[in-house]
Amino acid sequence: MNELITAIDKLKKEKNAVILAHYYTEGEIQDIADFVGDSLALAQWAAKTDADVIVMCGVHFMGETTKIICPDKKVLVPDMNAGCSLADSCPADKFAEFVASHPDHTVISYVNTTAAVKAVTDVVVTSTNARQIVESFPADEKIIFGPDRNLGNYINSITGRKMILWDGACHVHEQFSVEKIVELKKAHPDALVLAHPECKSTILALADVVGSTAALLKAAIKSDNKEFIVATESGILHEMQKQCPEKTFIPAPPNDSTCACNECSFMRLNTLEKLYNCLNDETPEILVDEEVSGKAIKSIKRMLDISEQLGL
Ligand code: 13P
Ligand code: SF4
Repeated sequence: MNELITAIDKLKKEKNAVILAHYYTEGEIQDIADFVGDSLALAQWAAKTDADVIVMCGVHFMGETTKIICPDKKVLVPDMNAGCSLADSCPADKFAEFVASHPDHTVISYVNTTAAVKAVTDVVVTSTNARQIVESFPADEKIIFGPDRNLGNYINSITGRKMILWDGACHVHEQFSVEKIVELKKAHPDALVLAHPECKSTILALADVVGSTAALLKAAIKSDNKEFIVATESGILHEMQKQCPEKTFIPAPPNDSTCACNECSFMRLNTLEKLYNCLNDETPEILVDEEVSGKAIKSIKRMLDISEQLGL
């Protein structure tokens, strides 16, 4: 393992490469990355790097977003099969029909979408900036929001907006069990419940803090509580535990499993071996159709610009 890490470091220097990782990847991937973050921070970081090669340890849409932001760089992913059930729940042709059937609506899409969906979107959001970006539009703005119905419902509920929602969801976040969280709360009455807005409203109703992975991490660091029940992909516990070694983080369990935590099988496709191979062979490489990229960059750039104005 140490040899592999040394070899990855050597390749990185030779190729002027950087490794970006999402909080849901395995701890050993997060530990070797140059930067670990949530979807917004990864996009912001990609926009600023002067590396020639970017390895995105996350899922496919994150690689695509990186390539669209950095068209002149080589963007690699350790495993091309690392998809996303939420992005898959929104086929571009069907979403384009949905958009066309609401001609007077502004189209806001979650970053967990394909480049082709972003190409028919006015502004992209992540779970860090969704509320603020929605609220940056006038209160009577007609809005379509896709693809995550849970995040969309949550934003509607906290802003009083009536956005029309695409009916998509993430299979990981849909799986959390209300009963098991209630049991955990009984066993740990002082624990704070942290939940990602991709969870169903019944889970969010149990949460003390709702936010993106970065927001949940920040809440855990700031809080005086010693115990936390975490309802999002369990990879985030790695950084939480690293930042707060004296605190206890309990992963919220899924409904239909004997397993105590909920993992995204796509994120877990990123391994050190595959990371080494992709840097060495410079494949698999993410490529995005130029016409699609040219349209998608507008909705991504709009998100980055608004986030910068808002200091996010
Ligand atoms: P954030 O890290 O932006 O909260 O997104 C979570 C996610 O679902 C990534 O797939
Ligand atoms: Fe997609 Fe869900 Fe995995 Fe995030 S956790 S990458 S939304 S499938």
